[in-house]
Amino acid sequence: MRDILVAGNWKMNGSSAANAELVAGIVAGVPKGSGFSLLVCPPFPYLAAVVAQADGSAVKVGAQNVSEHKKGAFTGEVAPGMLGDLGCDYVIVGHSERRALYGETSEHVAAKFQAALAAGVTPILCVGESLEEREAGTTQSVIDEQLDAVLDTAGVGAFAAAVIAYEPVWAIGTGMTATPEQAQDVHAHIRARVAEQSAEIAAKVQILYGGSMKGENAAGLLTQPDIDGGLIGGASLKAEDFLAIAEAAAQA
Ligand code: 13P
Repeated sequence: MRDILVAGNWKMNGSSAANAELVAGIVAGVPKGSGFSLLVCPPFPYLAAVVAQADGSAVKVGAQNVSEHKKGAFTGEVAPGMLGDLGCDYVIVGHSERRALYGETSEHVAAKFQAALAAGVTPILCVGESLEEREAGTTQSVIDEQLDAVLDTAGVGAFAAAVIAYEPVWAIGTGMTATPEQAQDVHAHIRARVAEQSAEIAAKVQILYGGSMKGENAAGLLTQPDIDGGLIGGASLKAEDFLAIAEAAAQA
């Protein structure tokens, strides 16, 4: 079966000292067992230090964003090859905060997804609906548009080396977690959408849930058949909170 991935998206939080303490705490507390892995995604300036600190441990490191370009005159951007060069295994693309606050379109996200893959960095593609979209009954069509943009550009084969994260926008940072059933419904829909193009890849692709996941609700979510991990914001900033979710993953 699919392994569970517990990924922390630190967003724009941390400092050299705070990160060192957080990573030391996580590394020291990795639960025993198999079938799961842990990932932390610090802000760009701290990637190299966190990669060095996590080296040799079970904790992997990823970035939160990436350019769709390989190199050149793109002031302020970070190329996918640079992430690979630093030792990043993953990169988040299309987070709802990037889409909403920085105007990233699904086409833009698809280009970033492909660029990351080409550089050997595993993209974590985020999809998810807003509260208005859910209330209007358009959850599935919103997710289809976000997913299809990448399926159409990169091809279903790309998902053999990628991760999907379902993050309902209304659940992010609000404390309002999707119920395990609500999340499972959407995860099953996403998997079915991928299966329309390849049943084999759909069966293997990890689909993470993100949105106010914490120690108390992790077990209920992670034991759903189509939920293969978590993308965690707030609860990834304290080793104790992150490890509580890791424990749930180790037992799921
Ligand atoms: P919270 O866990 O803080 O709701 O954030 C989720 C998220 O956006 C992870 O990418």
